Amino acid sequence: MGAVIEPQSSGTPDEAVIVASNLWKSFGSTVALAGFSLEVRRGEIQVIMGPSGCGKSVLLKHLVGLVKPDRGEVLVFGQPVHAMSDHELDALRIRIGVVFQSAALFDSLTVAQNVAFPLRRHRTLSKEEIAHRVRELLLLVEMAGTEDLMPAALSGGMRKRVGIARALALDPPLILYDEPTSGLDPLTAHTVDDLVLRLRAELGVSSVVVTHSLDSAFRLADHLAVMDSGRLTTSGTPEEILASTNPFVRRFLDTRAIEVRPK
Ligand SMILES: Nc1ncnc2c1ncn2[C@@H]1O[C@H](COP(=O)(O)OP(=O)(O)O)[C@@H](O)[C@H]1O
Ligand SMILES: [Mg+2]
Repeated sequence: MGAVIEPQSSGTPDEAVIVASNLWKSFGSTVALAGFSLEVRRGEIQVIMGPSGCGKSVLLKHLVGLVKPDRGEVLVFGQPVHAMSDHELDALRIRIGVVFQSAALFDSLTVAQNVAFPLRRHRTLSKEEIAHRVRELLLLVEMAGTEDLMPAALSGGMRKRVGIARALALDPPLILYDEPTSGLDPLTAHTVDDLVLRLRAELGVSSVVVTHSLDSAFRLADHLAVMDSGRLTTSGTPEEILASTNPFVRRFLDTRAIEVRPK
């Protein structure tokens, strides 16, 4: 990988990049978050698991201010996201890469145009500089040489990786992934996991990864949180989660043997 993408420093290594405190959010009579709290430290991979509808995506949306809590606070990089103006949110979102559940590429744009989109919007770069940066980003996600392809020509795994390249375009120190490996075959899912690990190892990126895959969860996580019905059921290191006696967590884990990634 090229050395041009610089790690971004934002304080001491164990500084919290995310502090969510007692978040409550309802949509009509649906309670999506019911007093959810979580802290993510810099350079850490935080995995969030939980059944469909338990509030995982709503939580991620709170972290970038797409949804405001009814009660509670969200600090990202020490700044109160729940209280930000639209202008402040725009500035914040430049520093957070979001990989949505659907790869959400623009189908009428080439791979290169998709990846260049945030650069055109937020940076003043020449055509050559943009082309260079796009090449570098595609190399990082192992998609070199695909610049001129249309999204329709790509497999699901390739689309996800282009989505990740686009999310990385502005060097965000924090990346949120909403089920990045759902719908992928195990081998492709593995390559996406590897990328998440490499970004942390090589660039010190902090990550929040929502996943249904136990394999991914235990490969990636420094810390794991298990959610149910808008609440945090249990959180801890993979070892702590494996040792949990919480019946809900056991139901999640009991179906298979899990190996914990060596540190
Ligand atoms: N914009 C919305 N309007 C109404 N209900 C919503 C909205 N977003 C999420 N919900 C509801 O909130 C709950 C949590 O949703 P979500 O966070 O998407 O779950 P998941 O854990 O599967 O990502 C679900 O019951 C969902 O239907
Ligand atoms: Mg979701």
